[in-house]
Amino acid sequence: MILSIESSCDDSSIAVTRIEDYKLLFHKKISQELAHSEYGGVVPELASRLHAEALPKILEEAKEYLPHIKAIAVTNEPGLSVTLMEGIMMAKALHLALNKPLIGVNHLVGHVYSLFIEKEAVLPKMVLLVSGGHTMILDVKGYDDIKVLATTLDDSFGESFDKVAKMMGLGYPGGPIIEELAKRGDPDHFSFPVPLKNSKELAFSYSGLKNAVRLALEEIDHLSRQDMADIAASFQKAAIAHLLQKTKKACEIYKPKDFAIVGGASANMALRSAFEKECAKRGVPISFAPLQYCSDNAAMIGRAAIEAYKKGDFIAMEELRAVPRSCFT
Ligand code: KG4
Ligand code: ZN
Repeated sequence: MILSIESSCDDSSIAVTRIEDYKLLFHKKISQELAHSEYGGVVPELASRLHAEALPKILEEAKEYLPHIKAIAVTNEPGLSVTLMEGIMMAKALHLALNKPLIGVNHLVGHVYSLFIEKEAVLPKMVLLVSGGHTMILDVKGYDDIKVLATTLDDSFGESFDKVAKMMGLGYPGGPIIEELAKRGDPDHFSFPVPLKNSKELAFSYSGLKNAVRLALEEIDHLSRQDMADIAASFQKAAIAHLLQKTKKACEIYKPKDFAIVGGASANMALRSAFEKECAKRGVPISFAPLQYCSDNAAMIGRAAIEAYKKGDFIAMEELRAVPRSCFT
């Protein structure tokens, strides 16, 4: 079994996965969303203190598995350095106590493997990763063969939802709040520009759209519930149109035979149905991370770690450190 730890942002999570058949034997996550909600975003110091409380509590519940653990996996990149450190310190303590090897898992690779929880990996795939920290199109051929085909020039897709929600004083995380509000709004009430619409560049950008929302809000004297719903619906429409437009472009260039969407923001149903329609038109199969594994969790880290374990891809304790910004090429 592999014990995996995730603490790259605001979710403390531990999983135990059986190596031979990927079975998830234990999985628990304590989310800090409520604690950060009043600040409209994640406060790193607070997050790290909450991980220090939550991780040992979860580990206590997984104690019965410790004698069977063959390796300890932990997210070591990318993420907030102070929160990554909490998971890494726990992994190192377990390494010393159990005398089992360490595996450092890239969080983005973890999101990709959320597609294969309790399953064999089916690759190659073009994968769209949409989270709070990233918006990327990836060419995934294997655990250690992932190429970035497109990324964002500024904000990420999920982050733009968080910022729009914050501008309207609606709390954190903004994604589910905006999606819910959008259901009661008119998506054509505001005509927000679809980012980089006339650019040939294969890249994303969400800062201009966010600013357009800010300007629209400044024009409204008394923001009603209906105004908010219309803002949410019009913003979400433009945000998804941008994802779709650039992904279509990537498909024309790279002609994938299989496509998937992962990451916290892939829980968005409007996004799912827009991509489902497009893929059906093109005859390209599409899959999504299961809803319970879209947002950050240790199950996906454990699943990815099995690939590393099979390759003997271990890391020495003194080399395992938090890498806040990282990318594969
Ligand atoms: O993958 P994740 O849990 O953390 C990162 O690795 O960043 O993603 C969290 C992000 C947040 O920005 C959150 O607002 C966004 O995913 N999100 C959504 C939805 N649910 C979560 N964005 C749009 N629509 C949603 N339904
Ligand atoms: Zn994530």
